[in-house]
Amino acid sequence: MTGAGRGIGRAVAVELAGPGVTVALLARSPDELAETAAQVRARGGTPVEIPVDLAETEKIGAAVERAREAAGTIDTLVNNAGVVWPLGPTAAVDPGEWATAITINLVAVTALTLAVLPGMLAQRRGRIVNVSSGAAARPDSMIGGNAYVTSKTALEAHTLNLAGELADSGVTVNVYRPGAVETPLQGWIRSRDPDQIGEGLHERFVRMHADGALITPEHTARCLVGHLADADTGQVWTVT
Ligand SMILES: NC(=O)c1ccc[n+]([C@@H]2O[C@H](COP(=O)([O-])OP(=O)(O)OC[C@H]3O[C@@H](n4cnc5c(N)ncnc54)[C@H](OP(=O)(O)O)[C@@H]3O)[C@@H](O)[C@H]2O)c1
Repeated sequence: MTGAGRGIGRAVAVELAGPGVTVALLARSPDELAETAAQVRARGGTPVEIPVDLAETEKIGAAVERAREAAGTIDTLVNNAGVVWPLGPTAAVDPGEWATAITINLVAVTALTLAVLPGMLAQRRGRIVNVSSGAAARPDSMIGGNAYVTSKTALEAHTLNLAGELADSGVTVNVYRPGAVETPLQGWIRSRDPDQIGEGLHERFVRMHADGALITPEHTARCLVGHLADADTGQVWTVT
């Protein structure tokens, strides 16, 4: 489970947890991972805290190996970690930041997937879920978030293409669009300077919050985990 330290990732990790279930928790912040681990333990699950910066893709193999050693086998991979930055006019964006965002939101996902796939294919069983965004369906809905929209659109293409390749392998690969969820990511966008990220973008996120349009991380986590029971593959799941 990536991005397991807070927001949607923490809620999914806790929802997955139960007696006999080992949940590997990946993110950078050790204190946030520790809090998620406590919540996993409270549900009877076994947490494994794996602090890792997914932008450093060369470290992903070792992180997955740690998870495999702790759990025995890896049955489910939820690629949830993601960043919404850099926001603002694309001409003003630092190219290095743009590339790092693509690395976290897309390249790291493929590195994690490639690391778990051989084991899943050998056991003919696996579930891979890639957390995307409604912005992938409407790239013009998030003007000023060029790296984010680019990464999520490519993530969905990667997912659906891989699902076709893995048809009948026992390994399913699906997209999940979580809806608009009240998480630290949403609060971070609202806290930005409208002059820097663009008034339209800022106003949209402030309004969603003010209108009570945001759902809870627990709500979207239940929906995501509910989908794991079926054998669908190559689907774009949306929160209900
Ligand atoms: N919230 C929404 O309304 C919404 C809507 C559509 C899609 N989504 C998607 O849902 C996912 C989760 O979003 P969220 O709102 O829960 O975000 P969040 O509250 O900011 O949490 C993001 C998680 O990802 C981790 N992360 C970020 N950069 C990382 C890195 N370089 N290496 C390892 N872990 C990293 C963070 O931990 P560290 O910072 O400690 O590393 C944190 O645990 C994202 O993919 C986002 O695009 C969210």
